[in-house]
Amino acid sequence: MNKYPLTEKYDTKWVEENWMGPNPLQLLEELCGNMKLSPGMKVLDMGCGKGLTSVFLAKEFGVTVFANDLWIDAAENLQRFEAAGVSDRVFPIHAEAHALPYAKGFFDAAIAIDSYHYYGADESYFPCTFSKLVKPGGQLGIVVPGLAQEFPEGYPPTHKQFWFTPMYDGELFAFHSAAWWRHLWEKTKIAEITSCYDIPDPKGIWYPWAHWADENFKAKFGLESDDIEFLDADTENQIALIAMTAVKKENGE
Ligand SMILES: C[S@@+](CC[C@H](N)C(=O)[O-])C[C@H]1O[C@@H](n2cnc3c(N)ncnc32)[C@H](O)[C@@H]1O
Repeated sequence: MNKYPLTEKYDTKWVEENWMGPNPLQLLEELCGNMKLSPGMKVLDMGCGKGLTSVFLAKEFGVTVFANDLWIDAAENLQRFEAAGVSDRVFPIHAEAHALPYAKGFFDAAIAIDSYHYYGADESYFPCTFSKLVKPGGQLGIVVPGLAQEFPEGYPPTHKQFWFTPMYDGELFAFHSAAWWRHLWEKTKIAEITSCYDIPDPKGIWYPWAHWADENFKAKFGLESDDIEFLDADTENQIALIAMTAVKKENGE
């Protein structure tokens, strides 16, 4: 049985033209299995990239989406939303994660697919910014690339050569375990964690992106992708894709 039947409905070509990492629709579908989204809700899609997930949220759940990204121009995303027929309910916004233009408590839910680790892996981002975006009772959900466990004695030798490659440029230092992410949010006491786990078969999701990047990155972005080497080198299966959801407490600040 196909694990991600909603994702199956979307044209593979369209996904491959616009994905910026391991299949964002599969990651979102996994995450949404642990959230309750219903028509009319206002949802923030943080780090939406080229907006695949924003289109999916609008189409599958009838929610209104604020498609927020830094690297991708809002006008470019608007064209994609118009082409997908959702521009009446998906609004492209260009904003950095620490300088967001939204009113406190504006959203019913805030999600981030393959993006939160770039800006949210410090102590203050969740309590001071991310959690404030949703109302009490509001939902929060992220999927991040990470590790099956922490390495207090140092990073595994199978990963070491990738920490500073041009492709990753230090990004891997924000890779952490599910337990680490859970603790980062839980200790603030602002939200109740409703799920937090390693998505099964992370490489089954990651390899198709890695092969696509291997074939297309150089021509499109002038950069060699080393995702295949990175995944191949991980002989101990320490690479994870982590899904975490939470509900903001009624008395959450
Ligand atoms: C690996 S891409 C993933 C994009 C998209 N979610 C996907 O899966 O195709 C990471 C995204 O995070 C966004 N991002 C990274 N740092 C950010 C920041 N400081 N503020 C806002 N967005 C950020 C980038 O603009 C980029 O589109």
